[in-house]
Amino acid sequence: MQPPSACPCRGGIPWQGVLLAVSLLTFWSPHPTAQLTIEPVPFDAAEGRDVLLLVHNVSRNTVGVSWYRGQITDRSRLIVSYSNITHSATQGPAFSGREIVYPNGSLLFVNLTKEDTGFYTLQTTADNFDTEAATGEIRVHEKLPKPNITINNSQPMEGEDSLALTCEPEISYATYLWKINSQRIPDGDRLKLSNNNRTLTLFSVTRNDTGPYECETQNPVSASRSDPLTLNISYGPDAPIINPPDSHFHPGTNLNLSCHADSNPPVQFSWSFHGRPLESTQELSIPNLSTNNSGSYVCVAHNSVTNLNRTTTKNITISGKTGDPPGLTFGI
Ligand SMILES: *[C@@H]1O[C@H](CO)[C@@H](O)[C@H](O)[C@H]1NC(C)=O
Ligand SMILES: *[C@@H]1O[C@H](CO)[C@@H](O)[C@H](O)[C@H]1NC(C)=O
Ligand SMILES: *[C@@H]1O[C@H](CO)[C@@H](O)[C@H](O)[C@H]1NC(C)=O
Ligand SMILES: *[C@@H]1O[C@H](CO)[C@@H](O)[C@H](O)[C@H]1NC(C)=O
Ligand SMILES: *[C@@H]1O[C@H](CO)[C@@H](O)[C@H](O)[C@H]1NC(C)=O
Ligand SMILES: *[C@@H]1O[C@H](CO)[C@@H](O)[C@H](O)[C@H]1NC(C)=O
Ligand SMILES: *[C@@H]1O[C@H](CO)[C@@H](O)[C@H](O)[C@H]1NC(C)=O
Ligand SMILES: *[C@@H]1O[C@H](CO)[C@@H](O)[C@H](O)[C@H]1NC(C)=O
Ligand SMILES: *[C@@H]1O[C@H](CO)[C@@H](O)[C@H](O)[C@H]1NC(C)=O
Ligand SMILES: *[C@@H]1O[C@H](CO)[C@@H](O)[C@H](O)[C@H]1NC(C)=O
Ligand SMILES: *[C@@H]1O[C@H](CO)[C@@H](O)[C@H](O)[C@H]1NC(C)=O
Ligand SMILES: *[C@@H]1O[C@H](CO)[C@@H](O)[C@H](O)[C@H]1NC(C)=O
Repeated sequence: MQPPSACPCRGGIPWQGVLLAVSLLTFWSPHPTAQLTIEPVPFDAAEGRDVLLLVHNVSRNTVGVSWYRGQITDRSRLIVSYSNITHSATQGPAFSGREIVYPNGSLLFVNLTKEDTGFYTLQTTADNFDTEAATGEIRVHEKLPKPNITINNSQPMEGEDSLALTCEPEISYATYLWKINSQRIPDGDRLKLSNNNRTLTLFSVTRNDTGPYECETQNPVSASRSDPLTLNISYGPDAPIINPPDSHFHPGTNLNLSCHADSNPPVQFSWSFHGRPLESTQELSIPNLSTNNSGSYVCVAHNSVTNLNRTTTKNITISGKTGDPPGLTFGI
């Protein structure tokens, strides 16, 4: 990019003729080395608000200022110029209707749009034709929209999949912040933040990574938070547990064996006895036990998504004297 000082574009500015007429007057500049600077106030502006580009250290013998869009003083980028001789402003091709130049050289921007973000260059012209230039930056921040979280795999499996969670949309000059179970997350071995913290990667997910996850976007003028997202991580089944834990029962009693196995989605159960399939229910009822019911009972837990089966065997012995069903007493 062409530096501002290299641009000899002085011609065509309307007050140039007047300038010539007064150029014989000499002014003494008390601060010839003071650096011309531009200060945006506020530094971070919100869309729809105003920003003032304050000019500092304008030399005393300045007779005109010109403001340009960008970092070069190109005639086609001229927004507005102000003559301290005619005390009048002249609009340039890049004038949007929302800029006001003050006699002291400062430029006010009203009703900012996102597109106003960028660099602005001021060129001052002195009575001896010397020019000076300085560049300032305007950052216009939008009011942040509500973000949402996208996942690159909607059916992750425990121990198998790594997941990338991305906070949408991408916004320049916004910072991204993640929370799991309402807690800030540490950048650990299994969690990684990347892409300016917009992406959270979970390596080798487990059932404990279910969440909920929230992402928050912040910029200097606003903050916004996504809805919580809960991951549906398929896992299991774990080894089934059969209840009750006892393995000795009396003949004549009723026995209900129930099987449990942690799993997502929930498991389908089936029972077998000595290799012979029984009911496909979570609970197995054996009324009026007899010694024939002694043996190995197997509970099979099947997860249709992970396609894994886990089994637990329970050996049951029916022995002792025929017990009365509890609670049933003769002689009432
Ligand atoms: C004005 O210029 C002087 C000398 O370069 C510098 O020290 C000072 O910070 C400038 N003032 C502003 C407000 O930029
Ligand atoms: C210049 O003029 C504007 C408008 O009157 C004012 O807000 C600003 O403080 C003045 N001073 C400088 C250094 O620009
Ligand atoms: C224009 O002249 C006024 C005084 O007449 C002065 O206050 C102002 O700083 C000058 N502007 C520039 C840009 O030099
Ligand atoms: C600000 O600009 C927007 C479009 O960018 C326009 O709809 C709105 O009316 C403007 N507001 C004012 C106060 O000029
Ligand atoms: C999702 O992203 C993670 C991390 O970048 C990657 O390991 C995994 O393969 C991706 N999964 C899919 C389905 O693209
Ligand atoms: C997420 O946000 C983007 C833009 O912010 C939108 O296009 C998309 O439809 C949203 N997705 C969901 C699932 O809400
Ligand atoms: C990303 O997040 C980490 C931890 O939350 C934080 O320390 C870091 O400053 C953030 N980086 C950026 C660029 O926001
Ligand atoms: C999940 O967390 C529990 C409790 O902290 C822990 O006992 C278990 O091992 C974890 N499971 C996995 C698969 O990491
Ligand atoms: C979780 O995903 C499985 C398929 O992978 C689906 O059958 C189940 O309905 C989902 N559960 C929820 C709560 O979305
Ligand atoms: C055992 O199961 C049967 C049939 O499902 C039921 O009627 C009975 O109440 C259950 N008994 C116990 C002790 O849970
Ligand atoms: C797992 O169990 C299901 C249902 O009980 C059965 O259909 C399937 O054949 C079993 N798979 C294996 C590998 O044992
Ligand atoms: C159950 O009994 C069989 C023999 O009938 C034996 O091989 C197996 O180890 C026993 N299992 C348990 C858990 O006691």
